[in-house]
Amino acid sequence: MIGRNDPCWCGSGKKWKKCHHPEPAPKTFASQKEEYRKKYKILLKTPEQIEGIRRAGKLTAEILEATCAKAKAGVTTGELNAFAHQLHVDAGARPAPLHYGEPPFPKSICTSLNDVICHGIPDDVPLKDGDIMNIDVSAILDGYYGDCSRMVCVGSVDPDKQRVVDTAYECLMRSIEILKPGIPVFAIGDVIQDYADSQKCSVAHQFVGHGVGLEFHEGPQIPHCRNRIGTLLVPGMTFTIEPMINAGVADGYIEPENDWVARTIDHKPSAQWEHMLLITEDGCEILTPWTR
Ligand code: MF3
Ligand code: CO
Repeated sequence: MIGRNDPCWCGSGKKWKKCHHPEPAPKTFASQKEEYRKKYKILLKTPEQIEGIRRAGKLTAEILEATCAKAKAGVTTGELNAFAHQLHVDAGARPAPLHYGEPPFPKSICTSLNDVICHGIPDDVPLKDGDIMNIDVSAILDGYYGDCSRMVCVGSVDPDKQRVVDTAYECLMRSIEILKPGIPVFAIGDVIQDYADSQKCSVAHQFVGHGVGLEFHEGPQIPHCRNRIGTLLVPGMTFTIEPMINAGVADGYIEPENDWVARTIDHKPSAQWEHMLLITEDGCEILTPWTR
């Protein structure tokens, strides 16, 4: 710790007490990286790592958009899974969901329809007019992870479904707008919860956004509902925001037959959009550049 009579850290030549006192020396990237790893298990990324994560994010978004373009009435989610899987292989990448977790996730992407909150498993049921579906793609490219998802509306959907689709998108984009160094993690949940409340929707609280990049799921957890996580965002953090917004109650249950598929307990519709973000010196960068 710097003393009052030491030369100021800014290099002015003046004593600290006559210069920047009581401001402590700004942390170097190296010291902040060490502090975040030790204190919070958050991995701040170097410029080289960011380059790799940016490439993985871009590929992930491209696979997501190409797969969503195929999602039409009559197509099965299993066909979408096979198509997306091949795009990973063609690009020299690997789908992170395949065999992930316990029990191992059985497919390469998640397809979450209607009342499914997340982690829907592709199967041989064809999409039909009026369905809403989240497609979630997570690709590993050269050891770096990308993760993003978006909604698809099949044909015309009823007002309750349209409301969750639009509200979830707005929640994601409004929360991205506030991102910059010095913002606490809970500010993200505040923005999402406030907007969801204003649209008479609820925020699923059993699943969170997460650090991502060098691993699939890193610290910190990013709750989308109101919370008290005061960790401050700093440059070099990479994480997802992936709000799941419900038309009815916030609670969900996980299907015991597969231990993965999460549904709303009232079977009302749920929607989710997801980006992977990098905190920069003065704001953030969207690492998964899909567009609505
Ligand atoms: N975006 C989702 C997540 O971060 C992807 C889940 S893939 C699964 O959890 F394999 F875990 F299902
Ligand atoms: Co995710």
